[in-house]
Amino acid sequence: MVTPHISAAPGDFAPGVLMPGDPRRARRIAETILQDARLVTDVRGIEGYTGTYRGVPLSVLASGMGMPSVTIYATELFRFYGVRSIARVGTAGGIPASVGLRDVVVATAAHTDSAMGSRRIDGVHLSHAASFRLAAAAAQAAGTGRHIHVGPVFTTDHFYLERPALFEQLEAHGTLAVEMEAAGLYATAAAEGGHALAVLTVSDHVRRAEALTPAERETDFDRAVTIAATALLA
Ligand code: HPA
Repeated sequence: MVTPHISAAPGDFAPGVLMPGDPRRARRIAETILQDARLVTDVRGIEGYTGTYRGVPLSVLASGMGMPSVTIYATELFRFYGVRSIARVGTAGGIPASVGLRDVVVATAAHTDSAMGSRRIDGVHLSHAASFRLAAAAAQAAGTGRHIHVGPVFTTDHFYLERPALFEQLEAHGTLAVEMEAAGLYATAAAEGGHALAVLTVSDHVRRAEALTPAERETDFDRAVTIAATALLA
């Protein structure tokens, strides 16, 4: 079946899907790590490709930005296309000083200021947790070292709201980075019986005036893509 936001035919997606935010990154991932990649959907310019990775079928579909967008695409993949696992590969802002530009964050959980999660079960704050299987496989693929971090992130609805005190409090609660999709993806996986993970590349820092350029953002997250693809195949 074709959904409102995905024009692929049934069976067009592999059980595992890499999910960057940016459609251009989806195309780049398809071109660089998939073999025999073919375009399976491009509704609204949100491109999806299916090919193979190390001989195993694997797909990539962009999520767009923010929890509503990732929730739409992840729901349709899990519910209508038989997808079992989605690994987000995106960028994030580092929160503690120890998290630097280009570091990789494996997001085991996602705190959020969004109301979307609280609307799923009345009166309940659902935990937004990664699939243990995917997170363990990603942590193993990433190895150890000071440029790899494993722990909770913060998923926000606001990109431009200045909140230095909030980031201090989040840091005091062990939060590694800020981004805009992981909590929505984790809640969707829980609701749809799927598996999800976010493997994030640090593109800027909430306290330091430093950031990757758009071109660097485009290319510097290859390591996260390899970690996420390896976890999906594990
Ligand atoms: N805030 C929210 N999302 C982000 C950021 C940020 O600083 N950096 C990359 N994605």
